[in-house]
Amino acid sequence: MNATDPEPDPGLDPVENVVATIARSAAEIRQGLVGRRGKAGAENPSGETQVEADVWADELLADRLTSIDGVAQYASEERSEIIDGGDDRVSVAVDPLDGSSNLKSNNTMGTVFGIYDEPLPAPGSALVASGWILYGPITTMAYARDGSVTKYELTGGERTVVEEDITLPDDPLVYGFGGRVPHWHDEFREFVREIESNPEHKLRYGGAMIGDVNQVLTYGGIFAYPALEGSPRGKLRLQFEGNPIAYLIEAAGGRSSDGSRSILEVEPDDLHDRVPLHVGNAEFIDRLEDALE
Ligand code: F6P
Repeated sequence: MNATDPEPDPGLDPVENVVATIARSAAEIRQGLVGRRGKAGAENPSGETQVEADVWADELLADRLTSIDGVAQYASEERSEIIDGGDDRVSVAVDPLDGSSNLKSNNTMGTVFGIYDEPLPAPGSALVASGWILYGPITTMAYARDGSVTKYELTGGERTVVEEDITLPDDPLVYGFGGRVPHWHDEFREFVREIESNPEHKLRYGGAMIGDVNQVLTYGGIFAYPALEGSPRGKLRLQFEGNPIAYLIEAAGGRSSDGSRSILEVEPDDLHDRVPLHVGNAEFIDRLEDALE
């Protein structure tokens, strides 16, 4: 199926309008990375140095998504405050450019989005859809709604279905773990040794969560950015990264965990909360939870 994503239509479901707007913006965001690889001279609310493209992509998505009928709130990893448009139906949380430190070296990055039916910050159980754009050799989108995951190729304004009802492959192949090894807890280090001891398993870590999680979706396996000594909640943000990824991986038949329960069960205290993130094939996440018990 080929489809040109339409302009937002007030008669349409706001969720589909949000997804169509993000998909349609992907080619422009990709093109706009050129010339915006330098530092913006500011930090995001999590204290990370922003590059020009982070700020630019956030503004572009904020403008477009807040003008959609039915979108009550827009929040992003790149701004401290929520843009609040009233009590419409859905709230959108985005990481406009996940892994933007990869811009300098010209490696993979993505755009992550979660669409919630509650005001933000909200738990993952309030998600009604989520997905990500991957700026790889090809621009693709993985999108989850109603327990089903679809993968698309995006070219210009066109969205082409590549695969429907995607599930994680049964035999997990890849693993990737963030954080410096000396900062991992002993139990986590032991779990990693066990995964690595199987000669069938392959290390994949690219410095952009979305690239690594997309490898897990494609080949099966596990990605984690765990709790660290000195950072008990790891690095990744619950609203913008943890929840959307967990929702999609669970819809694909996998599991997510903060170490003891599904990420989707974690109650947020703050918009920019972090969460230890582990996602992948259920057998790996079960073993991880046993190891961390
Ligand atoms: O959003 C944060 C992020 O860029 C993720 O995409 C990525 O997985 C992680 O940080 C990389 O962190 P580190 O530089 O510690 O490997």
